Amino acid sequence: MNLTITLWADKGGVGKSTLATSLAAELGATLVDIDPQGDAARWAALRGMKAEVPVNRKTLKALLASPGLRVVDCPPGQGLEAMIAVEMSDLLIIPTRTGEADMVALGRSLKVARRIRPDGKVGLVLNLCRETGRAKGIEAALRAQTGTHYLWLGRLCARVGAEETYAAGRTLLQAGGAVAYEFRQILEATRGLVGATTNH
Ligand SMILES: Nc1ncnc2c1ncn2[C@@H]1O[C@H](COP(=O)(O)OP(=O)(O)OP(=O)(O)O)[C@@H](O)[C@H]1O
Ligand SMILES: [Mg+2]
Repeated sequence: MNLTITLWADKGGVGKSTLATSLAAELGATLVDIDPQGDAARWAALRGMKAEVPVNRKTLKALLASPGLRVVDCPPGQGLEAMIAVEMSDLLIIPTRTGEADMVALGRSLKVARRIRPDGKVGLVLNLCRETGRAKGIEAALRAQTGTHYLWLGRLCARVGAEETYAAGRTLLQAGGAVAYEFRQILEATRGLVGATTNH
């Protein structure tokens, strides 16, 4: 099997690393960190898990072409490395927040995704949601469009538990409660899309 799930968004701070790390651990996939910030690699170190950190573009391409199930955590923006990971992904997951600027950024991310891999699968996660009418409206609108430009994977509310579990090198599933409940939907939807055999 050679299967790459890439977490990318043009925007920063939307939950790429939070989702990439939990998905990799719960899917039993190799975590690949191509963000110079090194957040995913740091998270992996906290739990004694190995993360791949490709040293250059050639190594990255070779890694993504090799057998295995992997989850790649990208930096924000349209840097070359991120665009390689987007292009070589079987499933691209774009997390987004619910603000006005976030919706503009999401449009930009989807445009980039369509240009680089016109027929590739794109999964969407609404992250850091609050229980506001606006957030609910955005969720309904995104759900309604699923299947045309992207596939809806689920949402994660803004919760202290999500932040704490990530900071401690644990997965969102290990957080338990509402965080785990919401993440499980995203995990199962991802599993369904990639048909991955997993360790849970
Ligand atoms: N659902 C959530 N609830 C609470 N905090 C969250 C949630 N998701 C992410 N965070 C927090 O928001 C911050 C940004 O998340 P994260 O680092 O995963 O985003 P990112 O897209 O990888 O950022 P960057 O673009 O800098 O790489 C982190 O401090 C993280 O703990
Ligand atoms: Mg990150």
